[in-house]
Amino acid sequence: MNGSHRNFCFAVCGTLLSHTLAISGASAQSEPPKAPAEVPARPRLAEEEFKNVQALKGIPAEQVIPSMQFIAASLGVECEYCHVAHANDKDDKKPKVTARKMINMMMAINKDNFEGRHEVTCFSCHRGSAKPVGTPIISDEGPRPRAEEGKKPEETKAALPAAEQLLDKYLAAVGGAEALQKITSRVQKGTLTAFGGQHFPAEIYSKAPDKRFSVMHLLGGESVTAFDGKQGWLSVPGRVHMMSATENAAAHIDADLCLPAHLKTLYQEFRVNAGDKIDGHETYMVVGQTEGQLPLHLYLDKETGLLLRLIRYAETPLGRNPTQIDYADYRDANGVKMPFRWTLARPGNRFTIQIEQVQQNVPVDDAKFVPPPASATAKP
Ligand code: HEC
Ligand code: HEC
Repeated sequence: MNGSHRNFCFAVCGTLLSHTLAISGASAQSEPPKAPAEVPARPRLAEEEFKNVQALKGIPAEQVIPSMQFIAASLGVECEYCHVAHANDKDDKKPKVTARKMINMMMAINKDNFEGRHEVTCFSCHRGSAKPVGTPIISDEGPRPRAEEGKKPEETKAALPAAEQLLDKYLAAVGGAEALQKITSRVQKGTLTAFGGQHFPAEIYSKAPDKRFSVMHLLGGESVTAFDGKQGWLSVPGRVHMMSATENAAAHIDADLCLPAHLKTLYQEFRVNAGDKIDGHETYMVVGQTEGQLPLHLYLDKETGLLLRLIRYAETPLGRNPTQIDYADYRDANGVKMPFRWTLARPGNRFTIQIEQVQQNVPVDDAKFVPPPASATAKP
């Protein structure tokens, strides 16, 4: 398996990608990770695991790759823009040296002006380009008042429905809580499409209330994303990554067979905004928020009430990495409506799964949801 295929394996592992595993080069340079059973209460620090960390000293080691993903997405570049392949510790590319100064600058800006909150990030200035534009651009159209952008006049706050009403409508649209609770297991078979049209077989096994095992049969072998109700993991041949707390929270949402019925209980408060138009459908955006946690954005079809898009975030020491899942092709299966197609997208990577066959309330072996032995995680 060459580098890009390995990246690909991890990139499409399922609805959850561990950026830690996204890049083979990262582990090639680091010490083998400790088995989870031996992990001490204090997480391993970046400087303990990587050779040449200066600006990011003190952050947990598992946050280094997500931070790098954030940088690459903010500047619209690949890792190679700053790194020599398989030698991420080397400082021989000028942009890397500049980037280190930029990290220090960014942290100083936030410390001095925003009490350390991540208000200014690489993206604030770079906006997807290596060279930020510092001069205002003269646009062809005249200036427009900000409030009018993308909003119809009738969509003022007052005209928006209550979040509770929208979440109820979504629940009813998928068949209601009672119908959802009758689904005890689900086996889905379909095709994953990524990489400009390459196809691979995919299977997803779910068991109520919240166990999920998804496997993609890629060129280099099986790529698994799984959650046993508490702990999730990702694996490709020879490597296993146990999910972090944030990853587990996201995996839990993906694994919940009754999610539409549970949404209201997941967040302290919800607010409603006008949503984007998705695939020709007008939407409302419902944002779920809990103090001290990252928000969840749900885009609900104005007409049908169905969930068309979900956006969640993972915090890194430099800023938030977004994950967007678009749901489509809703069909009825045993009295519940479920999406037969979804597209998972992150900056720089996207794949679609189209389900071709669904069986529900069939036996699913519990052995599928048993995490791999701890020793497997120590493999390089
Ligand atoms: C814009 C430049 C830039 C890009 C793009 C970038 N990095 Fe980095 N990377 C850095 C800098 C700067 C450091 C050192 C940070 C420090 O001093 O704490 C670093 C450090 C690292 C390290 C630690 C190396 C060691 O052993 O000390 C790894 C691993 C790494 N990067 C991986 C990646 C990966 C994977 C990508 C692509 C997703 C990536 N980087 C993209 C600038 C970049
Ligand atoms: C306050 C605005 C601002 C922030 C925040 C910022 N940058 Fe920059 N960055 C700039 C400017 C301005 C330049 C100079 C561009 C030029 O020389 O044309 C630059 C240049 C760079 C370059 C050199 C590009 C090249 O190839 O010449 C890199 C790499 C870079 N920034 C990385 C980062 C990273 C990584 C972050 C986040 C940790 C970041 N920047 C945050 C404003 C910013």
